[in-house]
Amino acid sequence: MTASSRVCVLVLAAGKGTRMHSDLPKVLQPLLEEPMLRYVYDALPEGMDAFTVIGHGAGHVRAAFPERAFILQAEQRGTGHALQTAMPDLAAYTHALVVNGDTPLMPKALLEGFTSEALASGADLALVTLTPPDTASFGLVLRLQGAITAIVEAKDFDPAAHGPKPGEINAGIYCLRLEAVRDLLPRLSNANKSGEYYITDLVALAREKGLRLLGLECGDAPELLGVNSPSELVRAEELLRESIIARHLAAGALIRAAAGVRIGPDARLAPGADVTGPCEIYGKSEIGAGARVCSHCRLEDAHLAPGATLRSFSHVEGARLATGAVAGPYARLRPGTVLEEDARVGNFVEVKKARLRRGAKASHLTYIGDADVGEEANIGAGTITCNYDGKNKHQTRIGSKAFIGSNTALVAPVSIGDEALIGAGSVITKDVEAGRLALTRAPQRDLPRTK
Ligand code: UD1
Ligand code: CA
Repeated sequence: MTASSRVCVLVLAAGKGTRMHSDLPKVLQPLLEEPMLRYVYDALPEGMDAFTVIGHGAGHVRAAFPERAFILQAEQRGTGHALQTAMPDLAAYTHALVVNGDTPLMPKALLEGFTSEALASGADLALVTLTPPDTASFGLVLRLQGAITAIVEAKDFDPAAHGPKPGEINAGIYCLRLEAVRDLLPRLSNANKSGEYYITDLVALAREKGLRLLGLECGDAPELLGVNSPSELVRAEELLRESIIARHLAAGALIRAAAGVRIGPDARLAPGADVTGPCEIYGKSEIGAGARVCSHCRLEDAHLAPGATLRSFSHVEGARLATGAVAGPYARLRPGTVLEEDARVGNFVEVKKARLRRGAKASHLTYIGDADVGEEANIGAGTITCNYDGKNKHQTRIGSKAFIGSNTALVAPVSIGDEALIGAGSVITKDVEAGRLALTRAPQRDLPRTK
């Protein structure tokens, strides 16, 4: 970058993404549970002001990225029209790095290298080109004696007019000298198959005017292909998945049956974390050294301390497991769950906004919500904290070493003292003091059987 150049980034993200067949704006389609656009933002060179052109589903895009600067393209009349719409906002800059918002896997190093090269070369219009095995629906790059002359969109390509079909395509990454481009923009036409104003037509216009064009050839780089359809989205997501798995393996995490393991970009696995696929680990999850995630689990914002274990078929969201804690198989840990050291949660147990203190156990068929369960308390099968009265949520407190008999309803707010014992089948509506036995069962009667 020369000292006098001021470069901004423009992300084109206003399109509907018709080929996705979804109401969600294409740039919000998730890859590993994060919106596509987030990956584009991750790849942008540091230290440059960035603007995003939005239109279709603009409100949703703004809401997903409240800290970003947006430019509204109310009617989406093509990528060239998107640039025209943005120009007044770019007045303070000499150059713009323009990228399509539907290319989530662009490497940051590539964007940085490309921008530096474009600026150093003094090009008026620089672009990245690719030679994929299938040129599909992309813009085709025409050259004459090696020099780029035009980009023709695949649907507008006519061998009679354009010659043999080239194998080189436009990646949708441009570095524009804004002063040069400003004069060309009014000359864009929408006389093409889509009836849209194409940013790509700037290439032929620049060539005609004798401006300096630069093409950076990146070969067959599948990570630079745009995502337009479900199959392209799945392909991009798979590339991303593989690269994330490779990164964790290289850093020392143990990922077994890795082909079925999906780990989001923000999840952290310590060296020695032990994960078996298929499973999904998303959000800001953290898996400590020696912590185990068995197959068929889904985690989101889950924290497993070193040595915690999550057994198969468990679903964990916003929950923390301390060292030695074990959950599952078939556990559901919802936000606000904390399992302290050596606490255990077994099959078909749901826990929400509750703390099971050190060594507490709920081994089977239980709901614990809005509760504090004391150290080494034992919660019998079928225990329910009745935390909701139809209007409000209430707390249940269970003391240390308390023993809750099977099939007990604890009607909150209620407090069970330390070492108290609740008889099986009870409905507890009043506090129970420490060390007491409470039960609400009707006495058993044995009567003669009538025939
Ligand atoms: C575009 C290029 C094509 C290139 C391909 C690379 C054009 C005309 N064609 O084709 O040469 O090979 O990308 O992936 O640019 N958008 C707007 N406003 C609009 C229309 C589109 O902001 O009015 C945004 C879209 O949200 C998208 C990007 O621009 O993020 C590209 O649009 P898209 O329709 O996907 O263009 P392609 O047909 O893929
Ligand atoms: Ca596209």
